[in-house]
Amino acid sequence: MQIPAELVQKYNRPGPRYTSYPPAPHFRAGFSPKQVVALLQADNQRPDPEPLSLYVHLPFCHTLCYYCGCHMIVTHRPEKIARYLDYLTREIALVSQWVAPGRPVVQLHWGGGTPTYLSPDQIVALMKALRQHFDFAPDAEIGIEADPRRLTRAHLEAAREAGFNRISFGVQDLDPAVQQAINRVQPYEQVATVTRWARELGFESISYDLIYGLPYQHLTQFERTIRQVIALGPDRISLFSYAHVPWKKKHQRLIREEWLPRPAEKLQLFLRAVELLTTEGGYRYIGMDHFARPDDPLSRALDEGTLQRNFQGYSTHGGTELYAFGISAISQLRHAYVQNVLKLSEYYAALDNGQVPVGKGYVLTPEDQLRRYVIMSLMCHFRLSIPEVEQRFGIDFERHFADALAQLREMEDDGLVACTTQSISVTETGRFFVRNVAMAFDAYLSTTADRPLYSQTV
Ligand SMILES: C[S@@+](CC[C@H](N)C(=O)[O-])C[C@H]1O[C@@H](n2cnc3c(N)ncnc32)[C@H](O)[C@@H]1O
Ligand code: SF4
Repeated sequence: MQIPAELVQKYNRPGPRYTSYPPAPHFRAGFSPKQVVALLQADNQRPDPEPLSLYVHLPFCHTLCYYCGCHMIVTHRPEKIARYLDYLTREIALVSQWVAPGRPVVQLHWGGGTPTYLSPDQIVALMKALRQHFDFAPDAEIGIEADPRRLTRAHLEAAREAGFNRISFGVQDLDPAVQQAINRVQPYEQVATVTRWARELGFESISYDLIYGLPYQHLTQFERTIRQVIALGPDRISLFSYAHVPWKKKHQRLIREEWLPRPAEKLQLFLRAVELLTTEGGYRYIGMDHFARPDDPLSRALDEGTLQRNFQGYSTHGGTELYAFGISAISQLRHAYVQNVLKLSEYYAALDNGQVPVGKGYVLTPEDQLRRYVIMSLMCHFRLSIPEVEQRFGIDFERHFADALAQLREMEDDGLVACTTQSISVTETGRFFVRNVAMAFDAYLSTTADRPLYSQTV
């Protein structure tokens, strides 16, 4: 698969990734714990609440990767991690009391930071707490993010024992010079070993995170990284664009600007990686940085129009409601988003008072709900049925979205979308630009000057 470079240049502008709509910068402070409880109760008192997804944020890491944009804390103090796990368990117990009995959990994800920085025993104990308070569906997708460095086979055995069936490894780049510059040295052999262990232990899906645009990345070396990745054969690959935001993440100043590839070089890295993954690698591009093998359930869900999307990216499972635990974690309720506080001290203080540790939140208006439906349909199914939207929301689509449809015309000329009176379809090439398509329906972009809040596509 080849994407025309001029299209990437043309559409490469800052925009949200639409893991939520409205995007997180629009969440508001001043949400009270009482309000959160009322929302949770209302959602769970519906006659037939849909299955649930869960997310657990484990922020701790052993060392700092200079590029890191995640909400993480570097620590070498085991008691700090033990204390957090204690409070996390309290939060899980607190929230679970409002969940409708028997409501099944179909998806659970542990992200970070580095969830595998926990000891094998801590992994098993935390999962036990989750299972005590929630009912897991037998075929639930249970995933963990793992850092290949310092990962032992005992960690992976513990994760399997706890019921994890998918794992994603932070790989980023396999070139020694790049690894030095980002303070993350993990030789190819180490990645190969943990991948082999994960296979032997029966993880159903193994995924790699890669980043392009890192310091000292050059085309030839990056090609080698991609070919090494193809040889190791993960089921899925996330290919992220390096977001360099030193004004927000101060430690990124440790990466000097002159070490970074220039925009044109970064674009070449991206285009070449896509080409290699989809030709030599045989991967399919799913959407928004995600690649999967053709026989992977994600590929099948793409064909069947059943892909889902939430804060963890694309999945085959997972309803739209997600309860998230730990600092900074974002829950997606039926008509609201709730983000936990960012600081450990605030998190502990709230839970000591027996309150949910809410920091920010947002309740969707009916107009937000409509636009969220349109945007998520485009992001997940790459197709929107206009009569279905009209029926569901009681609107005249063409009148309601006249501005958006006008914006889509240029994308139609560029071959990114196909519009009829009945539907909007995102083309195969258009899937690379799906966030530009979605942006046409985002009411917040046109009313605020907040585009620099977001990173560019490439
Ligand atoms: C929480 S980490 C994954 C687990 C573990 N901490 C690790 O690094 O191996 C999530 C992923 O986000 C990506 N990431 C982190 N900072 C980024 C940035 N500034 N730009 C793009 N991707 C980034 C990396 O690919 C990383 O693997
Ligand atoms: S990339 Fe992963 S291991 Fe590195 S600092 Fe960020 S969260 Fe921690």
